[in-house]
Amino acid sequence: MQVADSTSPDAPVDGSRRLYNFSAGPATLPVEALQEAKDELPVFDHTGASVMEISHRSPAYDKVEESARDHIKTLLDLDDDWNVLFLQGGASMQFHQVPLNFIPEGGSADYVVTGRWGRKAIKEARIVEDAREAASSKDDDFSHIPDVETWDLDPDAAYVHVTTNETVNGNQFSDDPVLDVPVVTDASSEMLGRPMNLEGYGLIYAGAQKNIGPAGVTIVLVRDSFLEQKNDGLPTMLDYGTHARKRFNTPPVFPIYMVEKVTRWLIDLGGIDAIHAINQRKAKMLYDKIDATDFYVGTVEPEDRSIMNATFRLHDEDLEPLFIKKAEERGLMSLKGHRTVGGMRASMYNALPVEAVELLVDFMDEFERTHG
Ligand SMILES: Cc1ncc(COP(=O)(O)O)c(C=O)c1O
Repeated sequence: MQVADSTSPDAPVDGSRRLYNFSAGPATLPVEALQEAKDELPVFDHTGASVMEISHRSPAYDKVEESARDHIKTLLDLDDDWNVLFLQGGASMQFHQVPLNFIPEGGSADYVVTGRWGRKAIKEARIVEDAREAASSKDDDFSHIPDVETWDLDPDAAYVHVTTNETVNGNQFSDDPVLDVPVVTDASSEMLGRPMNLEGYGLIYAGAQKNIGPAGVTIVLVRDSFLEQKNDGLPTMLDYGTHARKRFNTPPVFPIYMVEKVTRWLIDLGGIDAIHAINQRKAKMLYDKIDATDFYVGTVEPEDRSIMNATFRLHDEDLEPLFIKKAEERGLMSLKGHRTVGGMRASMYNALPVEAVELLVDFMDEFERTHG
């Protein structure tokens, strides 16, 4: 399969071949996984049909789902206390499902709000029960993560919810919180992109469509010991216990099948430590360029910058549309920042090759020489 591989003016960048995709999600996937899916699409594993056309209770599909689950357990080194669930409704459904399951009637949970997604999470939680804002960096445009020592925590909270990587605002926790109550994180835009210290977590969720696979499946990791605290009398489909016990209904078969391939690709590449080293390298290249002069301006304090979603502006903001247009002409796609914050955002998920960031940095050098 052809991928854009040069800055040559002759290289077609009209979208008829794969470009360098900095999209925040749905995001770039490993070409190897796409190619494999293409090859086995009409007939999967001697079943006489594609994976989308066979029973979700057939041995062939069982193998797919078990393998995807095993890969995730291997990559994150999950012990038997952890359940790996493949749910639907996106990470947005988790904003509702977490409080529904875990905040007892009349109780509350604490939320640390470090960006757009954390704000959405607390808003949804408040529809269900009481949710307290224990800390927020809103007044500083979410340019940093409030120090854990400053969080106003309630010792009786059902859990503390954090967003360890804020996709829109470009910040990321450098330490996984370990608190007196279980921590829940929305890890949508970083799961499998870095090693995690699981000690403090009761539940971790992520929409797959950034680092793990296509849209349509949400990965939920939940501990048995946390599940013991869940409420009774929940709607069956929204009760985590239902899905921890069995395959209750038809799962999103094709997205899970792709997750199996993407996670296998990651294991073959050397696992989480290997990809983390690559991700750090990519992020350093880009942030070094941003910091080299005043032409580019990072929007997050250096110690809290995300290695997955780098947000930055041009000193002269009027030049930003031209920057994005010229980048596209080089085959560097989807660099426009989220509509609510503007500027630029380079999402550098696991499947984005190092050379994509090299090309971006070269382009930034050249743009600065021409317009600086
Ligand atoms: C951190 C984070 N949380 C939640 C969401 C919402 O995910 P979904 O569209 O799967 O509901 C996103 C989507 O970009 C996200 O980046």
